[in-house]
Amino acid sequence: MEYFLIEGGKPLNGSVRASGSKNAALPIIAASILSTTNKVVLKNIPMLKDIETMIELLKSINVDIKFNKSRKEVIVKPTTSSYKEPPYELVRKMRASFNIMGPLLTRKNKIRIPFPGGCAIGTRPIDLHLKGFAMMGVKIDINSGYVLANSKHLHGSEIYLDLPSVGATENIMMAAVMAKGKTIIRNPAREPEIVDLANFLNSMGADIEGAGSDTIRIRGVNSLTGCTYRVMPDRIEAGTYLIAGAITRGKVKVTNVIVEHLASLIDKLKEAGLQIVTGANWVEVRPCKEIKGVNVKTLPYPGFPTDLQSQIVALLCTAKGTSIVTESIFDKRTAHVPELKRMGADISVDGNNIIINGRKKLTGAEVIAPDLRAGASLVLAGLAAEGTTKISDIFHIDRGYENIEEKIQKLGGHIKRIGKESVPKAANI
Ligand code: UD1
Repeated sequence: MEYFLIEGGKPLNGSVRASGSKNAALPIIAASILSTTNKVVLKNIPMLKDIETMIELLKSINVDIKFNKSRKEVIVKPTTSSYKEPPYELVRKMRASFNIMGPLLTRKNKIRIPFPGGCAIGTRPIDLHLKGFAMMGVKIDINSGYVLANSKHLHGSEIYLDLPSVGATENIMMAAVMAKGKTIIRNPAREPEIVDLANFLNSMGADIEGAGSDTIRIRGVNSLTGCTYRVMPDRIEAGTYLIAGAITRGKVKVTNVIVEHLASLIDKLKEAGLQIVTGANWVEVRPCKEIKGVNVKTLPYPGFPTDLQSQIVALLCTAKGTSIVTESIFDKRTAHVPELKRMGADISVDGNNIIINGRKKLTGAEVIAPDLRAGASLVLAGLAAEGTTKISDIFHIDRGYENIEEKIQKLGGHIKRIGKESVPKAANI
């Protein structure tokens, strides 16, 4: 099994480029099967385990898809043969696999897809996805761990989401683009990844308005065609490197970002006393005299992202004073807390609140990455800590961070990957 060895205590310095967004790329790759004429060429696709899983999944159902890694390009050709059933082993590996249900409903009358289970960060039901599909005329049955769907009469509908679920908004949008008539999604997710998916679908000939607002309107079209599309930058990866600069008291510039996507993080870093400078497509964090504790609550976009909660918790472990971080999106996203404790953090959990009393320093320790973002928070803590940190189960981190050790080394951080290729376990994030 591979692990990271980090020699901490050294400020990071320099510039790092954000990769393409994992969470935008995953549904966009799934939606590529909607083209019935011409190939889809997707650019700025990050080389990540999750992307490989999505590609493997599409191959397994009969899609002609290629990943040109040196060009960071995915090419999808329209499929002429019939689609196969998605295999359980791939759907269980990654929750975002369920993103293929929306596009598949428009291409195949009857589908059977394994039910994605709970996961390390919470129960994560799919009731809103299924409610949306049912309102569009899809007959849904759940049997022996599978969702069986008959979409012979797929039509537009008015759908109100009880929660602004990212996955449900994406799945409903993808099913609606070729449904008969008009679909209105009220209270959809407003994350930038939703806007990126809508822009991609519109480039294929879809008619979607209002993505990024509180109402999305979709007029069904008869067909979609191939296009070339560049996926947006990864705001979570970018945010992680800004926090890496802050936690090591260094000076880190993250380039190739959409600054507005990072507004809630920038605001919290400023509140904590850090100096932040922004340009047209970059953000730089600069050291300050003292980082102060702040309270943070995760919320749907434009609120503070749950995917940066673990990382800001690591930072606040080194801030002066008490911070309370409230996780309001997922019910079990605190697995980083006991690991940070091993590194000397004064931190505890009370319900969905993480209470942190900042310490002057963290100390290196042997820790285990419990999930993707919790793993990233341990890398950050390790970079700041005195001494050596060993992080195992780093396959979680590889799911969402492209070339993480090269990027950190370029910033002057001492991190090494040791050991053989790990066997990825099933883990849903
Ligand atoms: C996506 C992101 C994930 C991010 C999350 C929230 C991808 C691949 N993953 O996950 O990184 O942390 O958004 O920003 O893009 N819920 C229901 N019923 C449903 C669907 C969701 O109750 O049918 C609940 C979930 O349990 C959770 C909340 O809604 O508590 C938000 O989940 P959702 O926005 O759907 O997250 P994902 O799309 O799974």
